[in-house]
Amino acid sequence: MRSLRGGNVISFNGVWVSYSGSDRPAIRDVNLEIREGELVLITGPNGAGKTTLLETSLGLLKPFIGEVRLLGVRTSSRRVLAVRKYCSYVPQDFMKPPFETYTAMHVILLGFAPYKSIFEGTNGRDIERVEYTAELLDIESLLDKPIGTLSGGQQQRVMIARALARKPKLALFDEPFSSLDRESRMIVSTSLRRYVDEENATVVVVSHDVSPIVDLADTTVKMKDGRIEEVTHG
Ligand SMILES: Nc1ncnc2c1ncn2[C@@H]1O[C@H](COP(=O)(O)OP(=O)(O)O)[C@@H](O)[C@H]1O
Ligand SMILES: [Mg+2]
Repeated sequence: MRSLRGGNVISFNGVWVSYSGSDRPAIRDVNLEIREGELVLITGPNGAGKTTLLETSLGLLKPFIGEVRLLGVRTSSRRVLAVRKYCSYVPQDFMKPPFETYTAMHVILLGFAPYKSIFEGTNGRDIERVEYTAELLDIESLLDKPIGTLSGGQQQRVMIARALARKPKLALFDEPFSSLDRESRMIVSTSLRRYVDEENATVVVVSHDVSPIVDLADTTVKMKDGRIEEVTHG
C-alpha cells in the first residue's frame, strides 16, 4: 500500500453529517486527525455522535459539508472501497443468535476473506495467526465452540479477535467493553495496546466508560452534542 500523506489514517476537515429525515446534524464541524500507530479513545455521553463519527470515518456515512479521508483516500471517492479492506470494524450490536453454528475459529477465519482470491482456502499461517490472537484475548478454549452458544462477553472477545487476526491498518471498536467483566476488560484493553505497538497500526475505541482504557490510550477525544469538546494526548 502506498504511504500515507502526513501519516494520517483518518482525517476530518470541517465535517457535518446528518441522517435523512432528521433536521439536527449528528456531528457538526468536526476536525480531527488520527495518525498511524495510535490508540485513540473516543468518549462522551449517549447521543454525542461517537458511532456516527466511526461510520463516517469508514465512508459508510457521507458528510453534507466537509471532507473525510480514510488511509489518505477521500471517502466520497470510489477508491474508498479498496482501502476499506485494510480496516476492521466491530459495531455496537453484533450478538449472534443461538442457532448460529459456525465455530469461533470459523468466525475468526472469515475475517481473512477480503484478502483472498475466491479459490484460495485457509492455510497454516492463517491458523497460526488465529491461535496467536486467541491466546492474546484468552479465548483459546472457545475456538471449537459454536459462536451462538457463547456468552455475550465471550462473543465480544471472539469478534475482537477476528478484527485483529486479519492484521488491519485500522481497527474500530464501538463500545467493546459493554458485556465484559473487569478482568476481560483488562485483557481486551491490553491486547489492543499490544496490537498497536506490534503492528504500528491504529486502533480507535468508542466507549462512554473511559476507565478500562484511558490509561493506555495515546489520545482521548471527548464528544458532546455532535462536537469535539476536548482532545487530550498522553
Ligand atoms: N439512524 C439514525 N437516524 C436518525 N438519527 C440518528 C440515527 N442514528 C443516530 N442518530 C442521532 O444522531 C445523534 C448521534 O448519535 P450517535 O452517533 O449514535 O451517538 P453515540 O454513539 O455517541 O451515542 C443522536 O442525536 C442520535 O439520535
Ligand atoms: Mg453509539
